[in-house]
Amino acid sequence: MMKVLILGGTTEASALARTLCEYSIPALFSYAGRVTAPKPQPLPTRVGGFGGVDGLAAFLADNGITHLVDATHPFAAQMSRHAVAAAERCGVGLIALTRPPWEPVAGDRWQRVASVEAAVQAIAGPAERIMLAIGRMHLAEFAAQAQHHYLLRLVDAPGSLPPLPRHSVIVDRGPFTLDGDRALLRAHRIERIVCKNAGGEGAASKLRAARELGLPVLMIDRPAPAPRPEVHSVDAVLAWLGHDTDLGV
Ligand SMILES: NC(=O)c1ccc[n+]([C@@H]2O[C@H](COP(=O)([O-])OP(=O)(O)OC[C@H]3O[C@@H](n4cnc5c(N)ncnc54)[C@H](OP(=O)(O)O)[C@@H]3O)[C@@H](O)[C@H]2O)c1
Repeated sequence: MMKVLILGGTTEASALARTLCEYSIPALFSYAGRVTAPKPQPLPTRVGGFGGVDGLAAFLADNGITHLVDATHPFAAQMSRHAVAAAERCGVGLIALTRPPWEPVAGDRWQRVASVEAAVQAIAGPAERIMLAIGRMHLAEFAAQAQHHYLLRLVDAPGSLPPLPRHSVIVDRGPFTLDGDRALLRAHRIERIVCKNAGGEGAASKLRAARELGLPVLMIDRPAPAPRPEVHSVDAVLAWLGHDTDLGV
C-alpha cells in the first residue's frame, strides 16, 4: 500500500500535506524542529532529525514508506542529500517539490554570490544599514563585518542575543507584503538587502520593495541541488504518485 513521507518546513510542503489529506492518500509529515511553534499539519507529524542517512533509512523501512517527497527549503542541502541516499538504499521512490529560484528583472540591482561566506566577504566596506534576511543559522558569520547595522527578521524571538554588535530584530513569519516590506525598509533606513535565493512568493515582496526603492540586493545563490527528479507543483507530485487531480484516485 502507498505511504508517503513529506520532508517539510516550507509553504510547498504544507500545500502538499493539505492535498494528500484531501485525497485521503496515506502520508506522514516531518519537521526538523527548528521553530518553536511549527505550523500544524493535517497529517500525522513527527518532529526532529532522523539521525543521518541510517536513521532516515530505518524510519522509511519501519513506517512502510513507499514514496518520499523532499519538500524542504532549497538551502536545506544536507537533508536533501540524505533523502537521496536513504531512498536509494530502501528502494523508495523520491521526488523533490521545489520552487524555482528568483530571477532578476528590469530595475533590480542584484549582486549574486555563491555562498554565505562569499556574502560576508562582499560586504567588506563602509558601515551600512543592512537587512539580513537569511534566517538565524548563519548570523554569527556576519560578525566578521561588525561595522554594519543589521536588521534581522526571524520566525522566533532569539533565545540569546544574536552575535552582531549592532542589530535590530523583527519577529515575523511570512508571507510578507509589498506595502509592509516597503514600510519596513523605509522605517529602518535600509541601504542594502542580503538574502538567500529562496524563490517562491512568500518572501519575494522584499525584492519588489528593494526594486521600487532602488536598493541593492546581495543574493546568495542556492547550493547545488541533490541528484533527484524535481517538480514545482503539488499537481506534479500527485501525477508522480499516480493520482489524477480531476478524477481523484
Ligand atoms: N536553510 C534554510 O534557509 C531554511 C529556510 C526555511 C526553512 N527551512 C527548513 O528548516 C529545516 C532545516 O533546514 P536546514 O537548512 O537546517 O537543513 P539541513 O542543513 O539540510 O539539515 C540538517 C539536519 O536537520 C534535519 N532535518 C532537516 N530537515 C528535516 C525535516 N524536514 N525533517 C526531519 N529532519 C530534518 C536532518 O537531521 P538528521 O541528519 O538527524 O536526520 C538534517 O541532516 C528544513 O526542514 C527546511 O525545510 C530551512
